[in-house]
Amino acid sequence: MIMTMRSMTIQLQVKLQLHSILLSFLLLPTISVAILTKQIQPGSTLYASNTTQTWSSPNNTFSLTFIPLNPPTSPPSYLASIVFSGGIPVWSAGTTPLDSNASFQFHPTGNLLLLNGTGHTIWDSGTANLGISSASLDDYGNFVLANGTGLPVWSSFDHPTNTLLPSQNFTTKQVLRNGLYSFSLHSYGNITLKWNNDSIVYWNQGLNKNLTSPTLGLQSNGILSVYDTTIVPRGVVMAYSNDHGEGSDILRFLKLDEDGNLRMYSSVRGRGNETVEWVAIEDQCRVFGYCGNMGICRYNGKNPICGCPSQNFELVDPKDSRKGCKRKMEIENCPLNVTMLDMEHTLLLTYPPQSIFAIDGSQIFFVGISACRLNCLVNPTCDASTTLSDGTGMCYYKTPEFITGYQSAALRSTSYVKVCPPVLPNPSPGLVSGKGGGWRMQSWVIAIVVIGVALGLIVLEGSLWWCCRSSPKFEGLNDLFEYASGAPIQFSFKELQRCTNGFKEKLGTGGFSAVYKGVLANRTVVAVKQLEGIEQGEKQFRMEIGAISSTHHLNLVRLIGFCSEGRHRILVYEFMQNRSLDNLLFQTGDNKSGKLLNWECRFNIAIGTARGITYLHDECRVCIVHCDIKPENILLNENYTAKVSDFGLSKLNTSKENKYRTLTNIRGTRGYLAPEWLANLPITSESDVYSYGMVLLEIVSGRRNFEVSAETNWKMLSVWAYEEFEKGNVTAIVDRRLVKEEVDMEQVVRAIQVSFWCIQEQPLRRPRMEKVVQVLEGITKIDSPPSPKGRE
Ligand SMILES: *[C@@H]1O[C@H](CO)[C@@H](O)[C@H](O)[C@H]1NC(C)=O
Ligand SMILES: *[C@@H]1O[C@H](CO)[C@@H](O)[C@H](O)[C@H]1NC(C)=O
Ligand SMILES: *[C@@H]1O[C@H](CO)[C@@H](O)[C@H](O)[C@H]1NC(C)=O
Ligand SMILES: *[C@@H]1O[C@H](CO)[C@@H](O)[C@H](O)[C@H]1NC(C)=O
Ligand SMILES: *[C@@H]1O[C@H](CO)[C@@H](O)[C@H](O)[C@H]1NC(C)=O
Ligand SMILES: *[C@@H]1O[C@H](CO)[C@@H](O)[C@H](O)[C@H]1NC(C)=O
Ligand SMILES: *[C@@H]1O[C@H](CO)[C@@H](O)[C@H](O)[C@H]1NC(C)=O
Repeated sequence: MIMTMRSMTIQLQVKLQLHSILLSFLLLPTISVAILTKQIQPGSTLYASNTTQTWSSPNNTFSLTFIPLNPPTSPPSYLASIVFSGGIPVWSAGTTPLDSNASFQFHPTGNLLLLNGTGHTIWDSGTANLGISSASLDDYGNFVLANGTGLPVWSSFDHPTNTLLPSQNFTTKQVLRNGLYSFSLHSYGNITLKWNNDSIVYWNQGLNKNLTSPTLGLQSNGILSVYDTTIVPRGVVMAYSNDHGEGSDILRFLKLDEDGNLRMYSSVRGRGNETVEWVAIEDQCRVFGYCGNMGICRYNGKNPICGCPSQNFELVDPKDSRKGCKRKMEIENCPLNVTMLDMEHTLLLTYPPQSIFAIDGSQIFFVGISACRLNCLVNPTCDASTTLSDGTGMCYYKTPEFITGYQSAALRSTSYVKVCPPVLPNPSPGLVSGKGGGWRMQSWVIAIVVIGVALGLIVLEGSLWWCCRSSPKFEGLNDLFEYASGAPIQFSFKELQRCTNGFKEKLGTGGFSAVYKGVLANRTVVAVKQLEGIEQGEKQFRMEIGAISSTHHLNLVRLIGFCSEGRHRILVYEFMQNRSLDNLLFQTGDNKSGKLLNWECRFNIAIGTARGITYLHDECRVCIVHCDIKPENILLNENYTAKVSDFGLSKLNTSKENKYRTLTNIRGTRGYLAPEWLANLPITSESDVYSYGMVLLEIVSGRRNFEVSAETNWKMLSVWAYEEFEKGNVTAIVDRRLVKEEVDMEQVVRAIQVSFWCIQEQPLRRPRMEKVVQVLEGITKIDSPPSPKGRE
């Protein structure tokens, strides 16, 4: 039966192939005619006054034409651009927009000329008199000037502007530019983003290997790789589009945007829209100079906004806050002694070479916080200083050339800027539209909303207090009784300060927190987690505490208490002797204990973790999506029992029905983030399943999922592991350090299969955590997994 089915499909395929061969024979003459007619004759000219006039590629995928600026200007101005079907520009002749009298000419000398209204050359390809006889635009978007022998002499791919297209070879000689920003590839295989004639490197990522002649290439499926003859067999993946592999009519391209960030976009043919699929710097405020000189970047929700350090400054251009700020009174003209404006939670961005060498103004010193302020104040060449309050005592002194800042409650950094007294601090953002403040956006609307919300909260809090004033929980009484009963204790900040010896012994740091060791009065050892940048109010915090402490499971870390006092938001957890899984799993610098987790232990940790997450998803009173499952958040007690930690913060689902609530701020960690995070789709428990799948694969292989190396054939762990799995080479995936140990291969295969199911790109294909537990335990069987990328 199966045999006959097979032969039928084979017959069908043969027929189809015959058909397509026939078809191509029929189409061939017309295609070659089309190519001929698409040749651009010397002397041809495009006019900005007629934007319907185009030089198109044979199948109209790309065309060269004048396009009006977007957003439109008045009077309209145009750029001569190569656009993808639908209108997305991917290359332009020069960067100066011209009026409607401009023209673009393939001059008979072989030169390409962009002329303004009065016939002045604004841009040219510099190819006059090189024997060029033809010009054409191909279906990959490359505009080529060829000489008599048909060999290319000049091409737009060799002279890119701000965009890299698939099949375009980007070498160390080429640069993408946008304003003061540039993107380039270096001989070490590094890709970098730089500011102002390469003076500041604000993003640098890559191989850091000795290569011969690296090129960067984007495949049409959205994978960006570095290729070199020394890297065999294929390139090293640097980034990939979140929708990679899918869709045939989708163009993916890499673009250096005007805001200094590098993004990968995809655009559907003919639609004219573009979707961000990858971004180099997720934190836009870390892009050097985004807010101009003396500009301070901060977030308004998800959007970065620019403003000035204080009311001592005003915007250079009130219409464009990104142009930066200037002092209302220069410090040289100051009638009184210059003073320092103190800015808490503010970092003045410091990148190489600024941060490495004491050149171009910036210098590093290791001094205390007050010295950092004072030394700058008394030094006439210093204009500002910034100190990282992270215990290192690093202090950077800045000279007036260019200073760019980032302010966020989550930053542990304080900065000082010289101003003329009196210091005029900024009003709280949004409340008053101070003239120089920069946060002018319909501020009275915001003010009304803020006041309204504040009044509402006061009423709410008042009524809450009225209901709860007799509840001991809200008065921090009867601590011992509460601890015994399992309800969280409310600690005062002073108490925690005492029990941690003034936050002395740091156990670790996370994105928005630091964890310290402490000992309670009753001798219980605890981990004290100090949250930072939690902008939510007291009430929300208490609600979340309530939800966290309502969880009781062997595989969840138990919350003992909390502190919510002023700006302090602190959680007190039971202490885990064997720290977090990453310490024991990976051979990194931190793994000093040299301990190796044997397979039995790993497998138990895998099951325990799965049980903990199952409980969070299905069994506790309110469904909790963890959102940040990674080895760092899997703690191990003295018996190596897995305890999931860090759940329940700002990501509660109020009911099981309400699973599709989207989150306003992304938590989570790259490498473990399910694709839907970045695609802005709803975050559900399936996203946790994805992260768990990545962790499971790491438990088996002892490797980080995002670290590529020769061992994984320079591929992502999941991709490489799946290939090995398909070849039946399961042992290759298992941690090499376990070679001499006893390993239950049946369990290994189960774990690997489950992990591939968990990391399916399509959320609905992933199993529920309950099923994961059953399969791991061997209670239920699971089919052989399809490729996680879902391309079949
Ligand atoms: C064309 O460019 C020349 C030189 O840059 C300039 O003097 C002239 O005003 C421009 N003409 C128009 C119409 O922009
Ligand atoms: C146009 O041509 C390009 C390159 O030759 C090809 O990849 C693409 O599929 C073609 N598109 C259409 C709609 O024929
Ligand atoms: C055509 O261009 C190629 C590549 O630039 C060059 O090697 C060749 O000599 C040129 N041929 C003529 C006839 O100009
Ligand atoms: C890019 O490089 C590859 C490999 O060297 C080559 O086959 C291809 O033709 C190049 N593409 C272009 C547009 O030059
Ligand atoms: C290349 O990038 C890595 C980070 O990915 C960095 O550590 C290294 O210093 C860079 N190398 C050069 C030569 O810039
Ligand atoms: C890189 O390779 C070149 C040529 O093989 C060699 O001269 C140079 O010393 C190498 N540099 C490093 C840092 O390995
Ligand atoms: C200004 O500075 C000078 C010299 O440093 C000092 O003597 C003087 O007291 C200062 N004046 C004020 C008002 O602080």
